Amino acid sequence: MYSKLDELAARRRRVEQGGGDDKVRAQHEKGKLTARERIDLLLDEDTFVELNPFVENTAADYGEAPGEGVVTGYGKIHGRSVYLFAQDFTVFGGSLGEMHAQKIVRIMDLAAKNGAPIIGLNDSGGARIQEGVVSLDGYGQLFYRNAIYSGVVPQISVIMGPCAGGAVYSPALTDFVFMVEGSSQMFITGPKVIETVTGEKISAEDLGGARVHSTLSGNAHFTAESEPEVLNQVRRLLSFLPQNNVEDPPRTYCKEDDGWTEELVDRVPTASTKVYDVRGVIDAVVDQGDFMEVHQSFAKNIVVGFGRIDGQVVGIAANQPKMMAGGLDIDSSDKLARFIRFCDSFNIPLVTFVDVTGFLPGVNQEHRGIIRHGAKILYAYSEATVPKITVITRKGYGGAYVALNSKAIGADIVYAWPNAEVAVMGPEGAANIIFHREIQEASDPAATRAEKIEEYREKFANPYVAAAKGMVDDVIDPRETRQKLKQALEMLKQKRETRPAKKHGNIPL
Ligand code: HXC
Repeated sequence: MYSKLDELAARRRRVEQGGGDDKVRAQHEKGKLTARERIDLLLDEDTFVELNPFVENTAADYGEAPGEGVVTGYGKIHGRSVYLFAQDFTVFGGSLGEMHAQKIVRIMDLAAKNGAPIIGLNDSGGARIQEGVVSLDGYGQLFYRNAIYSGVVPQISVIMGPCAGGAVYSPALTDFVFMVEGSSQMFITGPKVIETVTGEKISAEDLGGARVHSTLSGNAHFTAESEPEVLNQVRRLLSFLPQNNVEDPPRTYCKEDDGWTEELVDRVPTASTKVYDVRGVIDAVVDQGDFMEVHQSFAKNIVVGFGRIDGQVVGIAANQPKMMAGGLDIDSSDKLARFIRFCDSFNIPLVTFVDVTGFLPGVNQEHRGIIRHGAKILYAYSEATVPKITVITRKGYGGAYVALNSKAIGADIVYAWPNAEVAVMGPEGAANIIFHREIQEASDPAATRAEKIEEYREKFANPYVAAAKGMVDDVIDPRETRQKLKQALEMLKQKRETRPAKKHGNIPL
């Protein structure tokens, strides 16, 4: 037995060395950690249990691949189970061959069967070229599971190196993508192929680095300056999420408070054209000002993220008047709709703060499809059955008012602040249309226009018209917003709402 144990230890050591000292050194010189170092940082101490370390590659003619270039297993984060895989760039550049894929498939199946999140630490050159079509088939098996387990368990991808080809489609199918600044890239075809095909010259970082994907393409939801920081962010995100779709998010203890927030009295300027940062409102409402923003640098005209109110996790969405006056465009529609659908999949109540003039006007937006993109917001809110609460803090105009969780599309509770203006459009635009004759014929058109704008504002641009029709449940003091949200969330705790039976809907894409 002792000699067998020695052999076992030697074999295990061999696997744990990955691609060997030189490759590990090269990995460290790039500022990157090894797969095992990453797992140690991600999980609670001493909780990692590895599976299938002795799986071997099927193309051994091309060289040995210890661990098949991927470390898989399960462990704990904040004491709760997670399943994970970490690709090992020191072995064939973390490329995915047949058995590499099988190791990941096994972990994904275990995660789904046991109802726990799956986390992928990606660092891979894509399909393992030497193995040919079986690598492509391996990717197919991953994509299939990403899709069928979507909405069953949270799926998280962390991009920690140059991920190319198939290595980026699997992350794209997951719920959240994290990237490390400077050392991670994602692209379908790399700079060399692009130069050959189109003649365009670009660096890997400019093509698919963290900045590009977190600001322009929207492929990355979170970025961090270092690997330890990014792994810490993953831990933080998981603290807001349930383990699966039949669990509620974890409730934390929150010290009793009366919900009165004095500073909210002037966080939103009453003048409807003045800009401000809506994060000031969110911070004042959530427990300890603890808000984890998702997609912070992408489509900044809408803010989405997770917080807690009285210990209860909520998904928060808010127009950001600081950017494009908070108007909704294509990117912000996609960002918001996807966030709503994630929250609805995982039983996270939605709180929406509305201050919006409408969908962004413009030829470019119309031609690029603002109609079908904006429709995603309408679809996602209508489809969602989690508790849905809206607070109109200032402007709620036109289609954007309807789209942002209005009563008509299924809001459970809608509150408005006393300065709210709920109308088809802003007083200036409305006066030009409905009083155009009076203004034209007036001896002093400018004075008449100003008079008519004021008349319109008095008559329509206030919260009481909507309140009179029951579309707003109450007009509240801004300072009691947190208290009202606490009460509404408590009241909606047992909410159960069903939809007509169907295979699945057909959200506009
Ligand atoms: C086999 C690979 C590999 C791959 C890298 N390696 N990618 N081996 N298959 N796909 C190996 C390299 O040969 C090298 O081996 C080691 O990994 C490290 O790679 P380097 O090139 O030295 O590293 P670096 O300079 O950091 O560049 C990393 C890289 C580059 C940007 C990922 O290797 C690269 O461009 N690889 C190919 C990427 C690609 O085109 N993949 C697409 C595959 S097609 P040695 O022995 O020298 O250390 C695909 C389609 C799937 O994925 C479609 C599904 C829908």
